[in-house]
Amino acid sequence: MSTETGTSSGPELLLDLNRDVRRPLRAQLEDGLREAVRSGRLPAHIRLPATRALASDLGVSRRLVVDAYGQLLAEGYLVARRGAGTFVADAAGASAAAAAETPPSVPTFDFFPGFPDLANFPRNAWLRALRATLRDAPDRAFGYPDPRGALELRRALAGHLRRVRGVVADPETIVVCSGAAQGFFLLARALGGGRLAVEDPGLPAHRAILAEASAQLVALPVDEGGACVAELDALSAREGTIDAVLVTPAHQSPTGVALAPPRRAALLAWAGENEGLVIEDDYDAEYRYDRAPLGAMQGLAADRVVYVGTVSKTLAPALRLGWLVLPPRLLERVVSAKLLADHGCPTIDQLALAQLIDSGAYDRHLRQARRRYRARRDALVHAVARHLPNARVTGLAAGLHAVVRLGRPVDGMALMQAAARQSVGVYPLGYAYMDVRAVDDGLVLGYANLAEPAIEEGIRRLGAVLEEL
Ligand SMILES: Cc1ncc(COP(=O)(O)O)c(C=O)c1O
Repeated sequence: MSTETGTSSGPELLLDLNRDVRRPLRAQLEDGLREAVRSGRLPAHIRLPATRALASDLGVSRRLVVDAYGQLLAEGYLVARRGAGTFVADAAGASAAAAAETPPSVPTFDFFPGFPDLANFPRNAWLRALRATLRDAPDRAFGYPDPRGALELRRALAGHLRRVRGVVADPETIVVCSGAAQGFFLLARALGGGRLAVEDPGLPAHRAILAEASAQLVALPVDEGGACVAELDALSAREGTIDAVLVTPAHQSPTGVALAPPRRAALLAWAGENEGLVIEDDYDAEYRYDRAPLGAMQGLAADRVVYVGTVSKTLAPALRLGWLVLPPRLLERVVSAKLLADHGCPTIDQLALAQLIDSGAYDRHLRQARRRYRARRDALVHAVARHLPNARVTGLAAGLHAVVRLGRPVDGMALMQAAARQSVGVYPLGYAYMDVRAVDDGLVLGYANLAEPAIEEGIRRLGAVLEEL
């Protein structure tokens, strides 16, 4: 098959033309451009490559590109500005054809809460770390991994977590896993079908993982002080003995509140009195903006708390690297579950991460990222004040997402769909409850993966959508 791929100066524009199929090249080019605009790969207002440059990249005549641009201009996908070039039209102003009924699969203004700034992945530092790893790693590093994780990484993590989060960490009690997600799976397996209290609202994906690993889940309500730990006794009396409690004390997921200090103490006391386990998901605690972070709870009771961490917010979810710091009594069961699951995480990436931490590049990246996200958080607050005057933003002190209370309940599905038609991705808080609230006044908005102007434009569009609903 002779497929040619072309990129040109200007926007990132990857188009495939396949000369082996019967569809004419001009039609293929038009399809490719339409798809790029609809999916948001080519966002509104971006300038297209000059026709001559694109023709040369694709190995086609300039006439063909001119004609394809002309067709999309006529359809309203593109606009021409005399002397300045051809641009992607504003989605709102696009013709009926451009507003084809299916919303783009990835909105241009996507407030998805799970992402750090994906464009800010420290590619060069990671490349250096990988190169050093491949150069220096002994041959044995290419054998089957240690199911607990590479010793170099466990050592680096122990030092980092002690220093930054006050975790009582010993390389011998750390297990590296494929993201926090796998950590929860392994823990549920190690608890052997035990009863687990989870924050409600919480992350549905994690509840599904825990349930799949046979945990019996009970809902622990959340209010302005975080998880309502005073209810644990009543919950136990009603539902049966609770073996473990999963909390996000630094920045509750998704409401964004911190677990109030008296509740932290009460939760540890509950664990002590009931031989219970606390699972501390510290997923985004590296980002605290307005005051020094509280240390991890694990630092106060290492024999009763499992500490869960991840690089998904500090580097990228794609790396799939996370870790558990375990009370010794759980270690063997978790390591055995990890061995049976996948024999251990990929060693080369683990060694690269160890290298990144040991070289200081990880800390430098975190410092820079914190500044960047603080500015984005502030942009969200300003945009909400400007375009959603009845709304209130909460959960701002830390992390990479906030909750916007709209001031009136809305149908989450209707809002998501209407926003998607304007290329805005929003995430209703109501879907984070165990009993889904189809109508609710909260939205969970991630701000880390959008630049300030995109935050402003996304919230402006959201304001317009809400007015119309
Ligand atoms: C509450 C919570 N915990 C943990 C994670 C990280 O999960 P993982 O390491 O599997 O990507 C996330 C990611 O969005 C999260 O929201």
